Formats: sequence, structure tokens, C-alpha cells
Amino acid sequence: MAEAAQSTRKKIIFSGIQPTGTFTLGNYLGAVKNWGPLQDEYFCYYSIVNMHAITVRQDPKLLRENTLAAYALLLACGIDPQKSVAFIQSHVKTHAELSWVLSCFCQFGELSRMTQFKDKSAKHPEDINAGLFTYPVLMAADILLYQADLVPVGIDQKQHLELARNVAQRFNSVYGNTFTLPDGYIPKLAAKVMSLQDPTKKMSKSDENPKACIAILDKPETIIKKFKSAVTDSEAVVAYREGKDGINNLMSIYSAVTGKGFEEIEQEFVGKGYGDFKVAVGEAVVDELRPVRERFDELMKNKDYLETCYREGAAKAEAFSQRTLDKVHKKIGFFAK
Ligand code: TYM
Repeated sequence: MAEAAQSTRKKIIFSGIQPTGTFTLGNYLGAVKNWGPLQDEYFCYYSIVNMHAITVRQDPKLLRENTLAAYALLLACGIDPQKSVAFIQSHVKTHAELSWVLSCFCQFGELSRMTQFKDKSAKHPEDINAGLFTYPVLMAADILLYQADLVPVGIDQKQHLELARNVAQRFNSVYGNTFTLPDGYIPKLAAKVMSLQDPTKKMSKSDENPKACIAILDKPETIIKKFKSAVTDSEAVVAYREGKDGINNLMSIYSAVTGKGFEEIEQEFVGKGYGDFKVAVGEAVVDELRPVRERFDELMKNKDYLETCYREGAAKAEAFSQRTLDKVHKKIGFFAK
């Protein structure tokens, strides 16, 4: 009976995004764009993960502004706060609490192997703080608190996701079934959007070269300009092939926003130069992002509405996650209040 109920329950999704500046085209295509369509089929929790953001020093005023803007952007990208639970991580105290417990089930060695930790500590050698090191534990807590079945993310989060799964498995094997084992939900296209200036590197908002990265609130003319200056190759053939990193990246972006397959794109640009192709990609991206930008501007005029949404989201997230935390506390031997 219990098994039948389990198999018919609506599956749960959790995902999060850091509020460090506006979302990039990578964040959008690799993750956030895919979150909206999941809302009808799944029970979705989406969070602006500001606690993760402070692993790198932040200006407090800017972090506050960016957090609200990121929340508005989440809604502008199609997250409906009536269908999904959309909340700000620091408003829900269970995240920090479960994170502590899980940190006692994580090995120093496995956290040392996280490539993001290695990259970020190389980038910020003056501040290799403990939060940067235990970041994946907090991420595991985010996911496991909601008993998430699926976690829609870009490919760069795969290693963190595997850690979350391992920790859940470890905990379950000691204390019995406590956490659902989460699976990644990684898009086939644009799971890793690359820099426009160095297509062997991930597109990232922290890139020092502003031309490398499209912010989804960039002005249309800025977007077109950035695509026009994208690094390609000297072959002048629009084709998806090994060794054509720049063109492969542009084709993936174009395909993700237009729904056209690679063959169709190759046909469309036979005999045309890269100049035409780059402008076409830029225009398609501008068309895709225009409604997001318009909804964002509207939402930012209505801060009261945003506040109602994030407060309600936090209350719902807390109610659900507290149940998981209580279960965990009981299992590990914490005395009830
Ligand atoms: P963050 O904020 O760096 O990125 C948010 C989402 O965007 C995806 N992404 C990309 N996808 C394709 N191409 C790119 N160039 C690109 N850049 C970023 C990321 O894979 C991610 O899905 N640790 C997470 C936030 C987090 C989280 C979680 C995610 C905290 N807790 C729990 C899922 C579940 C992060 O820093 O994402």
C-alpha cells in the first residue's frame, strides 16, 4: 500500500541559482529556461541560493539588490509562484541546520576533489574559506531536504550532484531510508554554454572579459554586438564538428532557442559567411529574451508582490523541509524539543 502511494506521488524537483549579478545565457539555457515547463508535471522547489553566494566576498547592499532581482528574474523566466515554491535560501533555516549534520557524513578527501573548489580557490587564493570547501554539503542539504527526485542543472553541477547522492546513500545505509536519492536532469542541448571569447571555457558571469558572456538583461544591441565579436575559426563553414568549438557553441545556442536541429542549421547557412550566422544567432537570442526582460521590468515595479511571493515561498519551503529535518534529528539521536 505504502509502496503504491510512493509510486504514484508527484515527483519532486529542486534547483537553485546564485544571486551574483544577473543570470547569464548559460544559466538560462542550461537551467532556468527548463524549469518553467517542469512545473505542471512535478512538484517544484526553486531557490535563490544567497547562502552559497557568500563563499565569495560580497558587497552587502549589492547582494540584497541582486537577490531581489534574481528572484524577480526567476519569475520573469516563467516560474509561477502559484505552481512552484520559489524562495530565498537564507529565509529557510533548515538548510544551514541539515548542512551541519551532513557535513559530519562527508569526508575531507571527497570535498577536496571537487573541481569547483579547486577552481575557485585558485581564483581567490587570498580567501580559501571553509564555506568554499563545504559548499557542496550545503548544496546536498538543499536537495535532500525536499526529497528531490530530480535536479535540473547544467553539466558543471554534475559532480556536486553526485556528492549529494553519495551522502544520501551513506546516511540511508546507516539509519535506514531517510532521503530520496536525487538524479540529475541535464538538458541535451546547451548543458554547457561556452564563453564567446574562449569557447573552450564555460560562459561565466565572473569572466573578466565582458564580451565573453551574455547577461540575459543585456540590451538587444549589446547582445548582437557580443555575438558579432564571438571567436570562431577560419574555415567559414557553419557545421557542427570536432575542433570547431566556437561554431559548435553558437550552433548549440541557436538550436536551443529556435528548436532547429544541427542539420537544418547547416542547410540554412550553406554558402553564407560567419557574419550572417552570428547576427542570426544574436537576433534569435534577442527575440527569446525580450519577453523575459519585459516581465522583469514589470515585476521590479511591484516590490510588494515580490515580497508576498518570497515570504509565502519561504513558509512553504520551511514547512516541508522541517519534516525532513525532524526525521533526521530523530534518527541521529537528537532529543526532541
Ligand atoms: P550557478 O548559480 O552557478 O548556476 C545556476 C545554474 O546554471 C547552470 N549554468 C550553466 N549551464 C550551462 N552553461 C553554462 N555556461 C552555465 N553556467 C551555469 C548551472 O549548472 C546551474 O544549474 N551550486 C549551484 C547552485 C545550487 C544548486 C543547489 C543547484 C545551490 N544549491 C541545489 C541545484 C541544486 C550553482 O552555483 O549554480
